[in-house]
Amino acid sequence: MRNKPLVVVVALVALLSVLVFAAGWMFGSKRSGGDEATPATASVPVDARAIFIPGGGQIDAIRRGVPVDKEGHPPPMARVENTDIRRVRNYPMQPPTIPHTIDGYQVDLNSNRCMLCHGRSNAATFQAPPVSVTHYMDRDAQFLATISPRRYFCSQCHVVQTDAPTLVANGFKDIDSVLAAEAPPSGGH
Ligand code: HEC
Ligand code: HEC
Repeated sequence: MRNKPLVVVVALVALLSVLVFAAGWMFGSKRSGGDEATPATASVPVDARAIFIPGGGQIDAIRRGVPVDKEGHPPPMARVENTDIRRVRNYPMQPPTIPHTIDGYQVDLNSNRCMLCHGRSNAATFQAPPVSVTHYMDRDAQFLATISPRRYFCSQCHVVQTDAPTLVANGFKDIDSVLAAEAPPSGGH
């Protein structure tokens, strides 16, 4: 075979390049691995919830106490409660929380799934509380025959009930508790 030396040379070159590639790959990966090793151990994600101390003097609802050079675990998604039990409203004009899941209830230009049950005409069939009169009022306090555009997108104001913990400490007292606490001193009137 006339080209035998050439074949040997080509084979040797191929083998050499494979070796160089393998060495470069191992060396390179070791180096970048080494570079990442220090921050990787230092930035093991921190559980934001575990670190957050309610009433710790500082409100940090965004990072929840996780230092800026550390990565925080995103808190687990809250579970929607589907109990059909209404929660007490903290004040009369609070939009009540939704005591049922709303997954897949479409509200768009053509249909409003919420009004299927919460409209006046169907409320009895579905045993749902009908939306109150305010939902039929326009901004000039005129009553409309159908749901007001201002109240069309229900989830703008109403949220589902979840088991999410309070993000920041909060000392809110509703008016009944305030009155109850003030009642004894002024009891003689
Ligand atoms: C299949 C019927 C149905 C649909 C659709 C529906 N609901 Fe309800 N909703 C109910 C019923 C029944 C109740 C009463 C409590 C219960 O049984 O869950 C209720 C309760 C509520 C309450 C509590 C009212 C209060 O006084 O505390 C709110 C707020 C509410 N729904 C909002 C919505 C919103 C917003 C949507 C659309 C995203 C929606 N609902 C879709 C049937 C429905
Ligand atoms: C702009 C905010 C807003 C929007 C949008 C809105 N609501 Fe309300 N909703 C309220 C407020 C505030 C209350 C409590 C005071 C009141 O009745 O006006 C309320 C009360 C309710 C109640 C209780 C009624 C009662 O008599 O106890 C139901 C049920 C309800 N809303 C359903 C809905 C549904 C369904 C939609 C969508 C079609 C909707 N809301 C859109 C603010 C809103």
